[in-house]
Amino acid sequence: MVKLLISFTHLVFICCFLVSSQYVSSQSISSRDILLQNESSQNASSQDMLYTYEEPNEGLKFLNTVANSDGTLMIQMAFESEDEGCILPYFHLRLIEKTGQVRRIDLNYTFPTEEACPLTPITNFTPLTYNYIMVTYIKSDNGIENKYGLVINYSSEIIGEPIYLGSASVYFDRSIVPEKGFIRIEKPNENGIATWNWHSAPDIITGEIAEISNGTFYVPSLTTYTLVDSSNFVLIDGGFGYLFILKHNERMNPSAINDPNLQYWRVYVSFLREGTDSPTIPSLVYQSTKKLNNIEFMSPCTASYNATGYICIMTFNNTITDRKRNQSWTEVNYYQLGFLSTGAFERLDIIPKPTNSSSFDLTSLLYGGFLVTNYYAKAMDGYILYDDGSYMPQSEISFGPGFVHYNMFKRNNTFFGVKKQIGNKIDILLKPLPRIINHGSEYDNPVIDSTKPAINEVVGSSIEEITIKYDMPVKLSTANVSIYQLNDDPFKPSLLRQTISGDSKLCNVGSDNYTVHIPIFKSTFNQPNSVYYVVVENNFVISQARDEPLIGIKEKIWKFSIKPFEVEQHSDPVTGSFRLNEEGSLRFLHAPNRAEFVQNMIQEFSKIIPVNEERLTTNGKWQYDPSSPQKILLSININEAEDDKTEPNSRTIYDNLSVMIKRKDFTALSNSEYTSLIDESAPLTMTQNYFEKFFPLIIIFIVSSIVLTTLYFIARQLNPGGRNSAIFETAFVIIDFAADLAFTLNNVKNVPKLMIPNMVFFVVPIIVNCLFGLNIFIFEITNHPSFVIWFSQFPTLSSMFTLFSAIDIRVLNTLSSELFGLKILSAPLTQRSRKLMLWGSVINILIEDVPQLIIQGIYYNSVVTYDLIPSLALASGGLVIANKLILSSYHALVRWHHRRNKIRDSTRHLSIASLRSIKSNVEIFNEKKIEQENYYEEKDLTENISYESTDWE
Ligand SMILES: *[C@@H]1O[C@H](CO)[C@@H](O)[C@H](O)[C@H]1NC(C)=O
Ligand SMILES: *[C@@H]1O[C@H](CO)[C@@H](O)[C@H](O)[C@H]1NC(C)=O
Ligand SMILES: *[C@@H]1O[C@H](CO)[C@@H](O)[C@H](O)[C@H]1NC(C)=O
Ligand SMILES: *[C@@H]1O[C@H](CO)[C@@H](O)[C@H](O)[C@H]1NC(C)=O
Ligand SMILES: *[C@@H]1O[C@H](CO)[C@@H](O)[C@H](O)[C@H]1NC(C)=O
Repeated sequence: MVKLLISFTHLVFICCFLVSSQYVSSQSISSRDILLQNESSQNASSQDMLYTYEEPNEGLKFLNTVANSDGTLMIQMAFESEDEGCILPYFHLRLIEKTGQVRRIDLNYTFPTEEACPLTPITNFTPLTYNYIMVTYIKSDNGIENKYGLVINYSSEIIGEPIYLGSASVYFDRSIVPEKGFIRIEKPNENGIATWNWHSAPDIITGEIAEISNGTFYVPSLTTYTLVDSSNFVLIDGGFGYLFILKHNERMNPSAINDPNLQYWRVYVSFLREGTDSPTIPSLVYQSTKKLNNIEFMSPCTASYNATGYICIMTFNNTITDRKRNQSWTEVNYYQLGFLSTGAFERLDIIPKPTNSSSFDLTSLLYGGFLVTNYYAKAMDGYILYDDGSYMPQSEISFGPGFVHYNMFKRNNTFFGVKKQIGNKIDILLKPLPRIINHGSEYDNPVIDSTKPAINEVVGSSIEEITIKYDMPVKLSTANVSIYQLNDDPFKPSLLRQTISGDSKLCNVGSDNYTVHIPIFKSTFNQPNSVYYVVVENNFVISQARDEPLIGIKEKIWKFSIKPFEVEQHSDPVTGSFRLNEEGSLRFLHAPNRAEFVQNMIQEFSKIIPVNEERLTTNGKWQYDPSSPQKILLSININEAEDDKTEPNSRTIYDNLSVMIKRKDFTALSNSEYTSLIDESAPLTMTQNYFEKFFPLIIIFIVSSIVLTTLYFIARQLNPGGRNSAIFETAFVIIDFAADLAFTLNNVKNVPKLMIPNMVFFVVPIIVNCLFGLNIFIFEITNHPSFVIWFSQFPTLSSMFTLFSAIDIRVLNTLSSELFGLKILSAPLTQRSRKLMLWGSVINILIEDVPQLIIQGIYYNSVVTYDLIPSLALASGGLVIANKLILSSYHALVRWHHRRNKIRDSTRHLSIASLRSIKSNVEIFNEKKIEQENYYEEKDLTENISYESTDWE
């Protein structure tokens, strides 16, 4: 029983608490009738959010707020001076981000302005891009008031000197796309000319700003009209609009007064777009023959939510005369003027007069309709009108006593009030306004229907596209859609993964006309367990019906995450080569420190891919690209993962980098100093995939071994006694020569320092061989009649061989090889010539084969890509040397043996039979050697390969 009682009292208590908490908000409604009070407390209070900011600095007073478009609430504060109600000329700002983080900016700078009393800000501020703010203030120069600006960053640092912005009344505003910078527009002078200066956004790193362009807006037909009012506003695509009102000048044109068709009032608009030097010719958007007292702009024009251009609210002051009663009175009416980006008139509709109050405001809302607000001494209330001006039921909001300041986050339709500061505490009450259009509220964008993936969805890393469905038919335009990886550290910038412009042909609109498909590169979602977000810039798409640019999606709103990856297989280190573009090649060649150049590039790679810096290294090799000799190839090593569970394997990193290079223009590679110098038209190529690389080479060697062995056996069958080994020498020598020639023509230019040595060791041996060849022929022809007979039988062949002997003197051996028992190959050469050939061969090894092998070795070590021809040259060079050394030493052995026999049997003549037997012994030896050689060929090759692999690691 007691328990029940306790629960009951609890219940009563909770109920009372709920009721009383409701009354807190309903109490705040002061002047509206009871009915509205009840409605307002019922509909909005449940979503209201109270935020209390506690200022740690004793004595700082609340001044002002800015609701930045990125969702940051900026609160300006100041110390009061000793004169009561005045503030000190310092700048204090509190940034409360969407995530709730608070930053404090306290500038150590005394503004050169007069003290302002009472508590009005002496400085104003405009957020520029993330991390930079422009603080503006008025300073009197010799009695003329001018506006200056000071760029500061979020770390309370001042960037550069104060900038002169113009006269005190200059219009100053940031582009709706913060990265497009800001503009300042002077009030028009008596000739209707308003000068504008467009400045860049602060540099991301240095914070410096620069003037991009300047020019003037002008007003037409000023002789018969006077300029009454002008107004500036921001355009969806990042540009600026200039709107002005002209009134007929009766004094200048008195004769026209009685013309019933005379347009007394004219409203023009002119647009200034990014990248143009002059604004569009002013378009007439409204004119009237009515003799109104006055037309004024009430607030800057805003973009319509449904892609029907811009809406401007104007006040028409008219005097109404009742002739019957002989009475007249003035009335003020509110109109919305709508026009398109082309300057075409769209509509002019009256907005019902708001209730009479001392101060009220009319704001057009992003989600449709208008917010009417009435301000009282320490309270406010308001309600929403539909587009046609009718009242939206249950749309009231109100802020009770104690509220001193109001503002609004336009992007998410959230109005807020700030209560009078008590001690260090500032209470901020946020009230989301009802939305006429309830599309895309989670995207802060009324024209978006849905996206794939949805917000907070978890997707696989292999998705190939993302889509955005709009709620109207769209066409692609010029602005970008970008994907970022959210940094775990909220104070650090996100990492750009890819960025594609609407007109890049990579995106497309589906057949339904509503859905935009955006491709995803394989390298984009390459970090598991990471959060990514998509930023859609304004003017990424335009409406099909009117070509009006549509607003996009701000950063960190369309967020989703990537599923964990499966553990990858281990992958060996990989080496790849990439090409620099012309500018990059020049910069590299002229870089004072090339190693540093490459190191910087690798550092940028590691940030952009992203991957640990230790995973990327370089061997410092570079070369000219054979296929594009002006350009440089550099190589990059991707080291193996130390822990395959947590790190991507080297092959994955290689693949990512490869995609990013191919898509350079669409990735962060194109935004970094060094990586932007990469030539995306040349793919990243793997230089260390041995099997693929040398597969053709292996095939060639196997095939040629088979062919040569077959030839050899045929030769032996046909002529068991011939010098069959000669054909091998010749074949090797010719293959080697061909490889060397190809190397000289194609490859050696990639390593300039080798060009001259290579030429020397290519040409000199040819001359030497020629001399040897001629010597032999001349000697044989002059001293040896049987040779002359043979020679005259085959003049063409023999001259051809003389030519070939230029390659290597031992080619002549073939002529006397008696190969296949052919007469043509049985030139009778003397022993002297054979001896000469042997010596020639030895000299060749020294002046040709070994130096060329060395050159090719050096080449191998200094290039980035190593392809077939140099491999062939290197391998054949090695083979030729081995072949020659073995054959020469063998021949020397035979000769030595021969000579010893000669000495030993000096008294008796060597019988022909014994000579024959030596000869056949020699041949048997030869055969064995060749079989062995074939074996060595393959062994040589495998050794070659393992040598390379150790070198490249
Ligand atoms: C609108 O944005 C502000 C600032 O980021 C935030 O504090 C507020 O909660 C948002 N309102 C809604 C309804 O999301
Ligand atoms: C403020 O700046 C002045 C000089 O500009 C310097 O001497 C002083 O130490 C600074 N104060 C603080 C708190 O940083
Ligand atoms: C306008 O720009 C030009 C260069 O484009 C520059 O020389 C000139 O000084 C600028 N004028 C003003 C008023 O800033
Ligand atoms: C409307 O115009 C008349 C005559 O110019 C002026 O006296 C009156 O103050 C104006 N009313 C408002 C609300 O601007
Ligand atoms: C857009 O809104 C205006 C009112 O603001 C309305 O008159 C018009 O019909 C709407 N257009 C479309 C295409 O929805």
